Amino acid sequence: MADTPDALIVGGGVIGLGIALRLQQQGVAVTLLSRDFAEAASHMAAGMLAPGAEAIPPGPYATLCRRSLARYGDWAEKLETLTGQSIGYWPSGILAPQYGPPADATAGTWLDAATVHHCQAGLSDQIAGAWWYADEGQVDNRALAQTLRLAAQEAGVNIQEGVTVQGFQRQGNQIQQVYSTAGAFRAGHYVLATGAWANDLLPIPVSPVKGQMVAVQVPPGHDHPQPLQRVLYGPGIYIVPRRQGRIVIGATVERVGFTPGNTPVGLTHLFAEASRLYPVLQNFPVQDCWWGFRPGTPDEAPILGPGPADNLTLATGHYRNGILLMPITADLIADQILGRSDPLLDAFSWQRFHPAPAAAHSISPQPMQLLDRSTPATDQPVAMMADSAPLTIAGRTFQSRLMTGSGKYQDLTVMNRAIAASGCEIVTVAVRRVQTHAPGHEGLAEALDWQKLWMLPNTAGCKTAEEAVRVARLGAGNG
Ligand code: GLY
Repeated sequence: MADTPDALIVGGGVIGLGIALRLQQQGVAVTLLSRDFAEAASHMAAGMLAPGAEAIPPGPYATLCRRSLARYGDWAEKLETLTGQSIGYWPSGILAPQYGPPADATAGTWLDAATVHHCQAGLSDQIAGAWWYADEGQVDNRALAQTLRLAAQEAGVNIQEGVTVQGFQRQGNQIQQVYSTAGAFRAGHYVLATGAWANDLLPIPVSPVKGQMVAVQVPPGHDHPQPLQRVLYGPGIYIVPRRQGRIVIGATVERVGFTPGNTPVGLTHLFAEASRLYPVLQNFPVQDCWWGFRPGTPDEAPILGPGPADNLTLATGHYRNGILLMPITADLIADQILGRSDPLLDAFSWQRFHPAPAAAHSISPQPMQLLDRSTPATDQPVAMMADSAPLTIAGRTFQSRLMTGSGKYQDLTVMNRAIAASGCEIVTVAVRRVQTHAPGHEGLAEALDWQKLWMLPNTAGCKTAEEAVRVARLGAGNG
C-alpha cells in the first residue's frame, strides 16, 4: 500500500493543484494523483478571465466568478513570490465587438465604433461598437499550470504523475481508499478534481465539451511584439494576445464526447471568424493548434463542496471558466475541508442534480477527518452514491445504469451529443444494420468512441433465426 496522506486529491489540473497548494499551506499533508498533467483542460484553455464577456447572468455563479476575478492579482503575486515565475496575469480589459446594434450585456460599457477603433487599432470596419469590460483580462493558463505545480511541489505536496485512479472504496459514509494503477491510497479526506473525466469515478453529470483552438505568432514588421493590446471577445470567436507576440484563438463548442483531433471545419471556423474580427492577423504564421475537453454540467455551473461521502469533496464541472475560478475554488474548497464552509458553496452542490434521493442521506459539510486505521477496509465495490450503486456485468463496472440505442437519430452529431449528455456508458448497436449500411447506420459504429462506451450488440435487422444467432455470436466475440 502506498502512503497515507491527510488529504488525497485526484486530478492534476489547476483546480486540483490550487486546492493542494492551499491545503498544504495550512498544514495538511497532501498527495495529488495526476493521470496526465498535459491533458488537463488547464493547458488547452485560452486563459480568459471574463465573467462579463461570457455573459454570466447575475446570481451565485456570477458572484463566484467575480470573487475569483478579484483574487487573481493577489494569487499572481503570491505565486511569483513562491516560485520566481510569472503566470502572465494581464488585466488588459476585454472588448466584445458586435457587428450589429448592442444586445443586452450584464456588466460592461458600450463603446461606439470610433471609440473602439481608438481603443484598439486594426479591428474590422464592419463592427458597430463593442462592450468594454475594463476589469477583465487574462492569464497565461499554461504558465499558471506550471507555476502552480512548482509552488505545490515546493510547499511539500506529493505529486504523483502518471497515476490513474480507478475507483473509490467506500464503507458507510466514508471513503476508505482509492484504487489506482499505482496501488491503493488512503487519506483522511479525498477531493475529486478530474474535470471532464469526473464521471469516470462518480455518477455526477459532468460531460466533455470539446473546444478546438489555434495560435498564431505576430511576425516582425507589426507593433512588435504585440499589436493587440486587449482581449477580443467577438461573436463566436475570442482572440487572446500574449505579451510576447503569441495570439490564441478559440474556440469551438462541440458535444462529441472525447473525440480527439482538430478538424477542417473547426479550424476553418476559427480562422474565418478571427480574420473577420481582426483582419490584421490573417497572414500571421500559424504556431500550433490543439483541442481540449471542458468539463460541462447541465446548468454550466461547477460542482463544488461536500460530496456523496463525508470525507469526499467535489471540485469539478468548471466548464468554460476553470482558469477564472481557480483562486476561489482553491480557497473555498480548502476552507470547507478544514471546517470553514462558505455558504456560497451551497449553490454548487452536486445534490442540485439529485434532489429527491439526496434528501434520504444526510450529507453535510464536515471538517477533515484523519484516517481511522482501526476500521479495516472491506472489499466493498467501488464507492458510489448510495442510491446509485455501480452496475457490474461480466467483471466490468459501469457507473451509469442507463443503456441507450443508436438508431433513429437525426444525424450522427445529434446521436453523439445525446449519448454524451445522457451520461450512459452502454450503447446498443444493430450489428446487422451496420453491416448492411441500412439507412441511418452508415458510419455509425465509427462515430462513437468505443474507448469510453461499451457496445451492446443487438440482432435488429436480422431476418431469420439463424441470422440472429449468427449475429449474436459475432456480438459475443464468438463468431
Ligand atoms: N473559456 C472559454 C472557452 O471555454 O472556450
